[in-house]
Amino acid sequence: MFIAEVELLMGSFEGAPGRAEGPATDDTAMATLVAQATLRAAEEAGADGVALFNRFYQPGIDLDTLEVTRELSLSTSADALLSMRWIAILYNQVKLTLAATGGIHTSDDAMRLLLAGADVTHLCAALLQNGPGYVAGILSGMERWMELYEYESVDQLKGSVCRDHASDPSAYERANYIEMLNQY
Ligand SMILES: Cc1cc2nc3c(=O)[nH]c(=O)nc-3n(C[C@H](O)[C@H](O)[C@H](O)COP(=O)(O)O)c2cc1C
Repeated sequence: MFIAEVELLMGSFEGAPGRAEGPATDDTAMATLVAQATLRAAEEAGADGVALFNRFYQPGIDLDTLEVTRELSLSTSADALLSMRWIAILYNQVKLTLAATGGIHTSDDAMRLLLAGADVTHLCAALLQNGPGYVAGILSGMERWMELYEYESVDQLKGSVCRDHASDPSAYERANYIEMLNQY
């Protein structure tokens, strides 16, 4: 199963009609169970790791010609928060290597994903926009951050802000989304 489909499964369970009535935390718990079951199935099928999340191809429609247009819609840093949250939730729940992809454009983005629990981070759009040499700046930014906060290795910090280790694990729950929208 493609990881993109896993994303759809997680999303559909969290936002499923009928579930909105109950406590919102149940949505996240249900989605987590679905994610775990899916990833365990991938593990049993022989996968060593998964990437969260692939970015879907997004064509458009020209309103004058009604032609389907080929579009290259690149990510921004905001997109990285989706995989950050799910990696934080799934960290230590599966044996698979967790690779973060989608929206990693800066060293801060990469640090957040590692703190959430990613084993590795991917860059695609950032390299397309800035060229392969951009990786050197990302690496030096990560080193500066680690020196500032006195980390000696990536292993030392990896997963330290996953859901189970966060000072407030409930900040990862979907209930916050609903709460914030109610106050908007
Ligand atoms: C130019 C380009 C080509 C891509 N080609 C593929 C592809 O062939 N198959 C695929 O599953 N994803 C493809 N992707 C999606 C990337 O693997 C990745 O999921 C996506 O770019 C999100 O990462 P990013 O935010 O770092 O760009 C492509 C992305 C770009 C920008």
